[in-house]
Amino acid sequence: MRPCAARFSRVPAAPNLPEQPLNRYVIVGGEPELALLLHLFPEGVEELDGAFAVYADQPPIGFDLIETDEVREGWEDAWREFHHGVEIGRLWVGPPWESPPVGPIPVVIDPGRAFGTGAHPTTRLCLELLQAVEPTSLLDVGSGSGVLSIAAAKLGFTPVTAVDLDDVAAETTRSNAAANGVEIDVTDELPRAGLAVMNIALEVVEGMLPKLPVVRAITSGYLDRDEPHVAGWQPVDRRVRDGWAADLLEFRP
Ligand SMILES: C[S@@+](CC[C@H](N)C(=O)[O-])C[C@H]1O[C@@H](n2cnc3c(N)ncnc32)[C@H](O)[C@@H]1O
Repeated sequence: MRPCAARFSRVPAAPNLPEQPLNRYVIVGGEPELALLLHLFPEGVEELDGAFAVYADQPPIGFDLIETDEVREGWEDAWREFHHGVEIGRLWVGPPWESPPVGPIPVVIDPGRAFGTGAHPTTRLCLELLQAVEPTSLLDVGSGSGVLSIAAAKLGFTPVTAVDLDDVAAETTRSNAAANGVEIDVTDELPRAGLAVMNIALEVVEGMLPKLPVVRAITSGYLDRDEPHVAGWQPVDRRVRDGWAADLLEFRP
């Protein structure tokens, strides 16, 4: 088994253990399958030699499944064992039960039920691009766990505003911000900002971009073969990883 940053598709915190037995499904595949699995299981996919494993109640449809194991005993410990922090440029993003290494700026994310442990390629790419621009005011649309907002605040972006249509995500952003000692305004408003970051799906990015009161945006949530097409918005920088892409865009009408 090869070590990998993102592991499990679910977060089995003790009070939230699934009622149905949880299974580990082993799937044969390469990069295209991994890209699809990460899309379906954004909290993580376990990487094996020439195969992947995901944890779910039901088998993922349309994949070449070679093994199914029921997971019961020691599920929480196993999950923690596989969920490790990752270094992304000047940042370390990891769970509270792991000690941050000396040097990088720690972004401690308790992986609750909101997306965004930091390990997904799209999150990592957004974190790379946030480090490639001058800090300014930031609007994080689709904050999930709050990982991008918290990292941005620690990198000097201020003020940082986070928006998410999912109440669980908004609450998770608030609690993770408090745990990291940073100030994030979690709201339903879309205030004017120097930069927006939006790691959602391509169609949401294209639909939201014209409505945001910003002239620069980091966008992701789509594959390398895709790119946002929105009138007036031009690509300035692009990063790719594991078949996913993120763009820095500027509004130049
Ligand atoms: C892929 S997660 C990204 C989480 C985190 N920003 C990251 O980069 O890891 C996308 C988040 O966007 C939220 N979302 C989806 N559509 C949205 C919309 N139209 N407005 C605001 N949030 C949205 C989802 O609830 C989810 O939390």
